[in-house]
This record gives sequence, C-alpha cells and structure tokens, in this order.
Amino acid sequence: MSVFEGGRSAVVTGAAGGIGLAVARACLGRGMRVTLADRDGERLEAVAVALASEAPDRVAQAVCDVADPASVEHLREVALAAHGPVDLLVNNAGIGRASKPWGDRAAWEATLGVNLWGVLNGLAVFVPGMMAGGREGAVVNLGSKQGITNPPGNAAYNVSKAGVKAVTEQLAWEFRQVPGGRLSAHLLVPGFTWTGMTGTGDRPEGAWTADQVAARMIEGVEAGAFYIICPDNEVDWATDRRRIAWGAGDLTEGRPALSRWHPDWAEAFGAYPGP
Ligand code: NAI
Repeated sequence: MSVFEGGRSAVVTGAAGGIGLAVARACLGRGMRVTLADRDGERLEAVAVALASEAPDRVAQAVCDVADPASVEHLREVALAAHGPVDLLVNNAGIGRASKPWGDRAAWEATLGVNLWGVLNGLAVFVPGMMAGGREGAVVNLGSKQGITNPPGNAAYNVSKAGVKAVTEQLAWEFRQVPGGRLSAHLLVPGFTWTGMTGTGDRPEGAWTADQVAARMIEGVEAGAFYIICPDNEVDWATDRRRIAWGAGDLTEGRPALSRWHPDWAEAFGAYPGP
C-alpha cells in the first residue's frame, strides 16, 4: 500500500506555486484528492481552477495563513468536508528573508511564524485526527540544508528550518511509539530549486525544478526514508554528506562555529575527504 494511491486525500500548504504546486500536481497525477492551501488567494484560485480542469472533483482549496492556528483549523474543515480523512499532510509553506542574529524583530517573527509555527500549527491541527483515524498516512515537513549546515547570512531562516528538523525527528519518534502505528514522518530537504522563492526568469543550470523535488519526495516516502535530501544540478549527495559531516565535526572535534566558512579552516575543509 502507498499513501499516494488513487482516491486518498492530501493537504498541501503553500500550494499556489513552487514546490507545493508541484507536489499537488504529482499527487493528482497519482489519482489522489488534494486540498490546496495558500495565503495568496488570487494565485490559489487560478491554480485550483487549472488543476480542477484536469482532475474534476479531486481539487479543493482554502485560503489559509499557516501562521494562524484558526486559519489552519479552517483548512482542516475544508479538507475533511471535500475529501474525508487526511492521509498525507505536506507542510510546505515557507518564506525566506535576510536576517542577522540581532535586530529586525519583524523579519524574525514573520520567518518563525510561517516556517516554524506554520509547521507546528499543521501538526497540532491534523495529527491528532490522523492518529485517531488509524489509517496509513504520512506527514512531510519542508526542511532545508540551511537548517542542517547553518550557512552564514540568514539566521532566522536557518533557525526556523533547524526547528522544523528537530520537531520532525520528534514526530517520527512519537509515531514509532504507537503500537501498530501506520503513520510516518519525513523531512523533505530540497537542494537549490527554481521557484518564486529563489528567482524569476530562466532556471539556472544548477537548479532543480520543483517537479524533480516532488518526484523525489514521493520516491523517498514510498521507500520509507525519513531524511529525503535532494541534490541539485551542482551539489550531489557526496558533497552534501561531506558538508553535513564536517558541520557535525565542529562539535565533536572542538572547531570554531561554522568553521567551513572560517579562513583558518579552509585548507582543512578542502582536504576533508568526507565520512
Ligand atoms: P515559493 O515562494 O515558490 O512558494 C511558497 C508558497 O507558500 C507561495 O505560494 C506562498 O504564497 C505560500 N506561503 C507563504 N507564506 C504562507 C503562509 N503564511 N500561509 C500559507 N501559504 C504561504 O517557495 P518554494 O521554493 O516553493 O518553497 C517551498 C518550501 O521549500 C519552503 O518551505 C522553502 O523554505 C523550502 N525550500 C525551498 C528551497 C528552494 O531552493 N526553492 C530550498 C530548500 C527549502
């Protein structure tokens, strides 16, 4: 059995564009019924009309700000009324804003509100019902390599995605504690993906398409992978693996924070073969 089987119900946040839209399209392509959520009502309406023309009766929509618990509750009501119990929840909505570790409280609040509280609201609203239903199901949260290796320059975004990683790991553990539990949790980590978040115009050669990320997500969930880490056309898994292990080594080897970006450690990182 796969959660992506025809007739099953998916909820995707941030579905009016980018990766969320690609995930929604991929789920519809598998015959699923999908509830699209986005805070941008105009783009959501346009996308819902286009998708429904190819999959009549299988597309529902809710204007929803994931940062607002009442709005996410409304999304759940729409999804249940349209398609019945939710089998797949994809907490995808996210924003990126430049921020430093100090100041600009508005950027911090907006980023944590959408990227971290948005995921927490999704879990609080949907998971109890998914657990009580006893059906096979999956929760996919959108992480980021920035939440793992913490590159300098966007502190709030990195903190939000590190939080998503931590809570998704906790969720996986909780699901494992349920005797005969049929729910799984997954952290989807896109590489550089060409979407509204990363730019406009022609896709750079290094970037993956959102459709490639969606396909990899389905492949990863079906294979039972928890960490679904996508490469892109410039960064392969060997490179990611080396960067992740080097970052963990800052702690275990007593190096300075973010030594990968420290001039005194450039040579050592360059020579590091990886785990
Ligand atoms: P995008 O900007 O193309 O799409 C995000 C969608 O979320 C938009 O339709 C937007 O209106 C919606 N949204 C924003 N705030 C919302 C809110 N409060 N409530 C409901 N909807 C909201 O971005 P993209 O690239 O598709 O990002 C999707 C997810 O993937 C995000 O969580 C992002 O952090 C993550 N990601 C993206 C990467 C990339 O290279 N594009 C890399 C790593 C992670």
